[in-house]
Amino acid sequence: MKILVTGGLGYIGSHTVVELQNSNIEVVIVDNLSNSKIEVLDKITEITGNKPEYHNFDLSDKESCSKFFNENSNIDGIIHFAAYKAVGESVSKPLTYYRNNLESLMNIMDNMNSNGIHNLVFSSSCTVYGQPDILPVTEKAPRKQAESPYGNTKKMAEDIIQDTIYASDLKGIALRYFNPVGAHPTALIGELPLGVPNNLMPFITQTAAGIREQLSVFGDDYNTTDGTAIRDYIHVVDLAKAHVIAVQRLVKKNNKLNYEVFNLGTGNGLSVLDVIKSFEKITNKKLNYKIVGRREGDIEKVWANTDFANQELGWKAKQGIDDMTASAWKFQLTL
Ligand code: NAD
Ligand code: WQD
Repeated sequence: MKILVTGGLGYIGSHTVVELQNSNIEVVIVDNLSNSKIEVLDKITEITGNKPEYHNFDLSDKESCSKFFNENSNIDGIIHFAAYKAVGESVSKPLTYYRNNLESLMNIMDNMNSNGIHNLVFSSSCTVYGQPDILPVTEKAPRKQAESPYGNTKKMAEDIIQDTIYASDLKGIALRYFNPVGAHPTALIGELPLGVPNNLMPFITQTAAGIREQLSVFGDDYNTTDGTAIRDYIHVVDLAKAHVIAVQRLVKKNNKLNYEVFNLGTGNGLSVLDVIKSFEKITNKKLNYKIVGRREGDIEKVWANTDFANQELGWKAKQGIDDMTASAWKFQLTL
């Protein structure tokens, strides 16, 4: 089995490449290094003992994309991670986000159709649910108005995939990730945010490492147990393993519908203070943080109902918050 992993040098992509190779699946990576470093290729090779084939080009460029597929038609399936993902930046640069995230997807799907590649796994996000009315949220919950152009690219991409599948013989799985955190146990790969991190876990580890002075906790007046917002944090290695199962489900024709959607979370909601407490316990370090006002666009609480993924994919997240904070910290110490 040969799988194309777009964005395979990025945070989730690199962990997935490792899990694919560990399952003896051949991998081809396409990544233009817009949010990753070429060194990750060596780190993947160090972990698995196997250097994946790698191509550097921009998937939103129609010509480069067609050229690649014309030369590489022996691909059994695609896991499409490549996208821009900074929510705040997408508000100030909407066209950059729509162009990169949607043109890349459409170029790929065009070339799947013309090259006889039938199987697509797509990185979607729990952001499509907005603030759900019922928790834990199931895949059947209505998708809400997106809070940002980034979030809208995920909603639109799901629709583009579903419509294209309906009109062709393609098959697809959209995986809606909750909050991926943590790093590979070897600490050779992990999350490498450029500049000041937006996300909680890298901000925590950078604060503890002295790179940031203080963590701001955005809001303690939410309707939650301790007043801070609740999310479903999931270990990136658990997440990566779900991709191996999903792409095999398609290639082996075990899918029940041509388009399927799965939540990937742990099923447990944790508050910002729960994450901080875990970090302080695991590292034996006191974190410098203060409570500030809410962050615009944040929702109060969300966590996944994972029954469908558990039953249909036979997949369940195994690692808890202490594993996530410990591995994130171990990775931070290598930087
Ligand atoms: P990342 O930025 O670390 O990885 C994305 C990779 O894609 C990068 O290596 C980047 O260089 C590459 N890329 C971007 N545009 C490209 C293009 N046009 N051509 C070629 N390569 C391109 O992000 P990640 O955290 O690994 O996220 C992977 C996917 O999962 C994204 O689609 C993201 O939107 C989605 N997602 C991420 C999260 C999260 O919190 N990290 C949550 C839900 C969904
Ligand atoms: C988690 C919690 C913050 C930073 C984002 C995207 C979403 C998805 C995952 C891709 C929240 C709080 C954070 C800080 C804080 N990405 N926080 N201080 O906002 O749930 O989701 O990443 O699809 O689309 O919106 O993740 O890690 O930014 O925040 O108090 O410095 O931590 O308010 O409650 P979020 P996050």
